[in-house]
Amino acid sequence: MNDIARTGDFTPEHTGTEKLEAFWMPFTANRQFKSAPRLIQRAEGMYYYTPDGRQVLDAQAGLWCVNAGHCRTPIVQAIAQAAGSLDFAPTFQMGHPMAFELAERLVALAGKPFNHVFFCNSGSEAVDSALKIALAYHRVRGEGQRTRFIGRERGYHGVGFGGISVGGIVGNRKMFGTMLPGVDHLPQTWNLKEQAFSRGQPQWGAHLADELERIVALHDASTIAAVIVEPVAGSAGVLVPPVGYLERLREITAKHGILLIFDEVITGFGRIGKPFGFQQLGVTPDLYTVAKGINSGTVPMGGVFAREGIYEAFMQGPQTAIEFAHGYTYSAHPLACAAALACLDVYRDEGLLTRAGELAGYWEDALHSLRGLPHVIDIRNIGLMGAVELAPRPGAAGARAFDVHVKAFFEENLLVRFTGDILALSPPLIVEKAQIDRIVDGLRRVLSKLD
Ligand SMILES: Cc1ncc(COP(=O)(O)O)c(C=O)c1O
Repeated sequence: MNDIARTGDFTPEHTGTEKLEAFWMPFTANRQFKSAPRLIQRAEGMYYYTPDGRQVLDAQAGLWCVNAGHCRTPIVQAIAQAAGSLDFAPTFQMGHPMAFELAERLVALAGKPFNHVFFCNSGSEAVDSALKIALAYHRVRGEGQRTRFIGRERGYHGVGFGGISVGGIVGNRKMFGTMLPGVDHLPQTWNLKEQAFSRGQPQWGAHLADELERIVALHDASTIAAVIVEPVAGSAGVLVPPVGYLERLREITAKHGILLIFDEVITGFGRIGKPFGFQQLGVTPDLYTVAKGINSGTVPMGGVFAREGIYEAFMQGPQTAIEFAHGYTYSAHPLACAAALACLDVYRDEGLLTRAGELAGYWEDALHSLRGLPHVIDIRNIGLMGAVELAPRPGAAGARAFDVHVKAFFEENLLVRFTGDILALSPPLIVEKAQIDRIVDGLRRVLSKLD
């Protein structure tokens, strides 16, 4: 255990189901969870520990975020130090050194053409901030009629109204009615018949990007502000972009003066082999969002990177005028900045931002060894992301993957995320080969006896 004490009475005697009622849990089947809770008490390295003392291997990096592993001492100490010396400082019309230092280090990691980063507190805020930057960018350049956004089916961009509007996950949209007007969607890129069991980027599907030309022709390019996609769709179940697909999106958006936004909330900070996903995939957007891995999930934080020319376009008018009327009380919160700075050191010192690339081949072979097990209809992977898709039980979509999630947790001491009937895997980047074997062997045992 880390030497900085953690508190909280979370022993088995204190976790009777009656104690669980008040928390309205996010993205959770509350009644189901509270009838058979899956509780976590503490964490360290690759592991979670349950209140009854079980050690559970974290195969999902918390929620795609704990890239440096849990409770890393330098990060914990940096947060504690910041909490004791600068608990909060406004970044509206004021500043504190860690915010500037972090921004400098981040743009250096991004490399040219990125030269500015805007801070917020989550992936959802990063997405809404990026959409607002795109709208305002066009406006300050005299193209205020560019107000439309193009997202993609099965895209996940968080839960703000902007994010669900450009997002393409039906369940996250249908309850809420009102969304941003003027949003259209590209088709999603996954196709079982053409791509099943692809290793890395599928060969089939680049042509799906040409749909953007049709959408642009329909609305006229002059009305479109930006296209937003995840370079690799994560939450919808690890949908890896077909070879050539992102390149075409880039060509078409550039041709029409439309900004291309990559949502790198999952792919950022080493998940697919380079510090940022766009670097690994070789296609450079105009804006990209990050969160999660920015400080290994320790303190809420997000950000938007802007390429050269975007920030500069805002820097006009009177010196005293606020150039971009947007920001959050907690933008560049000192604790989040301290955590991120320490985390960047850990990433650098341990080579973690390129480790996914080094382990990708081993990870791929291990995952694909599950091919042929009952109900497995697809396996896909890139970097240290992976998905195993199961055929749904007739009339009970999602039930099979949920069963795997529960059995893996209780019988195999493995934490594996599920979305629909897809098992989604993204271990911390410190994962060792033996732990990859443990993840895959545990899944094999569960899948072998799955009905
Ligand atoms: C690509 C992407 N964008 C945005 C978000 C939203 O992030 P948050 O939950 O921090 O608001 C997520 C979360 O999983 C994500 O995967």
